[in-house]
Amino acid sequence: MSQMMIQKKMSQIVDENNNLVSSMAQMSPAAATSQVRMTSQQSVQSQMLRSPSVQSLNRTSSQQSLAQGRSSQQSVGSRVGALGGHVTEDEDEGEEEFFQDVDILQNFGINVADIKKLKSVGLCTIKGVQMTTRRKMTQIKGFSEAKVDKIKEACTKISNDNSFLTAAQVAEKRKHVFKITTGSAELDKILGGGIESMAITEAFGEFRTGKTQLSHTLSITAQLPDESKGYSGGKVIYVDSENTFRPERLRPIAARFNLEDECALENVLYTRSFNSEHQMELLDMVAGLFHQEAGIFKLLIIDSAIALFRVDFSGRGELADRQQKLAQYMARLQRLSEEFNVAVFITNQMTSDPGATMSFQADPKKPVGGNIMAHASTTRISLRKGRAETRIAKIYDSPDMPEAEAMFAITNGGVTDAKD
Ligand SMILES: Nc1ncnc2c1ncn2[C@@H]1O[C@H](COP(=O)(O)OP(=O)(O)OP(=O)(O)O)[C@@H](O)[C@H]1O
Ligand SMILES: [Mg+2]
Repeated sequence: MSQMMIQKKMSQIVDENNNLVSSMAQMSPAAATSQVRMTSQQSVQSQMLRSPSVQSLNRTSSQQSLAQGRSSQQSVGSRVGALGGHVTEDEDEGEEEFFQDVDILQNFGINVADIKKLKSVGLCTIKGVQMTTRRKMTQIKGFSEAKVDKIKEACTKISNDNSFLTAAQVAEKRKHVFKITTGSAELDKILGGGIESMAITEAFGEFRTGKTQLSHTLSITAQLPDESKGYSGGKVIYVDSENTFRPERLRPIAARFNLEDECALENVLYTRSFNSEHQMELLDMVAGLFHQEAGIFKLLIIDSAIALFRVDFSGRGELADRQQKLAQYMARLQRLSEEFNVAVFITNQMTSDPGATMSFQADPKKPVGGNIMAHASTTRISLRKGRAETRIAKIYDSPDMPEAEAMFAITNGGVTDAKD
């Protein structure tokens, strides 16, 4: 990359960073008050969110930190060389093709101010705009129906999207899909290799069944490159609604996989969600981050996805509202996973089913969220406690894997196979 190109890229990113910050400032009044309530914690959190984008003013530097994280992994020495600042042109172009920036809209008569507005609500790519409804877009300040139509039309032209693909084309597209290991070969096996990108994987189970431990383990394993599968490894965003994220837990897990722990921790971006609205708004920022460092983020974790929705909509009368909001949230997660080719891993709680005693069900408990969650998650894993540190995972629902069980163990080094 020439000096000029780097400078251009840097100023672009600085610009986008300002955007992201101003988008926080433009949040709805309700969100704004909730932000005020959170003062000190919130400012720490927004700093945390912001700092990586400042640190990684260019893509090369963030790739360097990824590479450093792997420096102790001698087996991937060549890979490190490839990632350590010398991104090959091919790799760069591949990403460019996957992520079509909304900036291209300028060539189709859309002005810069409107493009900025799109970005401020997390619509940073052409695909992202295409996946958003016209109705939703007319809610953006200053966006008339005519303007939205014009933008939509331009996107159709740019993406050259002929809505129907042949199965062969779909297969070609799915070559981008990667899988992240869970740390347990047995669990990977029933998942068909691990947690898949462009999809939502949901793990549900009672307390202590390992949902949070699995989230911590994935935060590390997502960083591991796997040359045999052409997976480069990448950064992680961790959204925590229960305040159970423990960075210290990541150290022994990183050590188990021969990652330098300081760098491994640098590659996990953490944020706390405080209520269901805030959790939804965070996705705009997540989209901004995914876009800023195109191709660098590989995994988005939401632990737990639904807990705050249960708190905010508690009465029976609010159930319909809750389900509607939850459906919107899940749809947004699904779109993000496809738009940026990342894996989304969410955790879910269990509830006792009042109707179960009547129906002689073997397991009277079921995951929260009803049909909405059932349909929105691509793959569902149910977790239950086994003896001592062992846990049993069962594929509850998957588009391409049979119902099967696997035993794994929770150790200081994270999720692993159970010793027999
Ligand atoms: N360092 C560690 N080494 C071994 N086991 C650990 C370690 N830290 C936690 N555990 C085990 O992990 C289990 C807790 O799992 P986890 O926190 O993932 O549950 P969870 O499914 O997220 O529960 P909840 O619904 O309460 O959030 C406990 O049984 C605990 O003993
Ligand atoms: Mg937990």
